[in-house]
Amino acid sequence: MPNQSSRREWIKTTSTLVAGIGIAPHLFATERERYRAAGIILLNSNENAYGPSPMARKAIIEANAKSNRYPDDYITPFKKKIASHWKVNTENILLGAGSSEIIGLSAIYVSANKGHIIVGDPSYKVWNGQAESFGLSINRISLNQTRVHDLDKMLSSITNETSMVYICNPNNPTGTLNKVDELRNFAEEASKKTFVFIDEAYTEYAGLPSLADLAVSNKNILVAKTFSKIYGLAGARVGYAIAHPDTINSLSKYQPWPDANVSVVSALAASASLDDLSFVQSCKENAAKARELCISTFANLKFDYIPSQTNFILFNIDKIGAAFTQKMQAKNIFVQYRDHFGGKWCRVSMGTLEEMQSFCNALKEIA
Ligand SMILES: Cc1ncc(COP(=O)(O)O)c(C=O)c1O
Repeated sequence: MPNQSSRREWIKTTSTLVAGIGIAPHLFATERERYRAAGIILLNSNENAYGPSPMARKAIIEANAKSNRYPDDYITPFKKKIASHWKVNTENILLGAGSSEIIGLSAIYVSANKGHIIVGDPSYKVWNGQAESFGLSINRISLNQTRVHDLDKMLSSITNETSMVYICNPNNPTGTLNKVDELRNFAEEASKKTFVFIDEAYTEYAGLPSLADLAVSNKNILVAKTFSKIYGLAGARVGYAIAHPDTINSLSKYQPWPDANVSVVSALAASASLDDLSFVQSCKENAAKARELCISTFANLKFDYIPSQTNFILFNIDKIGAAFTQKMQAKNIFVQYRDHFGGKWCRVSMGTLEEMQSFCNALKEIA
């Protein structure tokens, strides 16, 4: 989603545009359509510009009429499908309204003794404020020189005060990844001392195997997955934990009832998108093509960038400065400004190839 200041900017821009072209705002069905109608390209939240998948769209329409009942009848088959996808059991799955809910539940779960959470720096941190509100502090460990999680440093930083280690692999915002075997060894070691949270939001883009098998047999390891990225359902809010049944049971106590926060429409949409293999494959291929387009533009314009395996790329904008995002916004393109590694960076999400061409053209003009 656009952050608050970008949203405010957007409202200003859109109102002006809408007024300018003489269309009453209420004629636009959704905010998303309003963005599109205003010609705004959203490359700031790592969403999937192609989603929802054709099968998910069909399921959403069909599910509408079923929304008068609680979702129970649909939740169990959905969980069975997820479980068989990962070759685990239904008892190993807990659904949430996005993997954000799973991160939040885990933070509550480990917060009994307060203490701190070890996270990479930079890494995905939207949830950090929520963890802090549960009395946890955040201990950030810099990525190593190759800009991946410094697993040795993270392991040696675990103390009696450590409530959880959070690892995002591939990492947001760098798009880099730790080798799965190294991460597996790390998780096994770290879990002897603390709770290990592995965020696999972007593994499908990188073709990375999951650590689900490890999580189901170890009460101190949890793997989180989401339908918001390659499955193109960020707005449907569906994610899940894969973990040992005892861990799932403990986390579910912080929900009104287990799996409570996924609607009929969301469950059926996500379930259909799991079956839509050609959609997932095409999104993976298009993200790779979009990355290539960006990378050749960065190289031509001499922008430093971090090679990414995901649907976003971090590139250095020191030579333009923090005003870069405003300059992009003036061209109706939303990207994210980031302060990292002592410099100024921009994280750009991979949109459609057409959108990425517009981004590259805008970058050339600004550069
Ligand atoms: C690494 C990572 N984890 C989790 C999330 C949250 O995703 P959601 O709550 O939509 O599943 C995001 C969203 O950008 C993310 O980048």
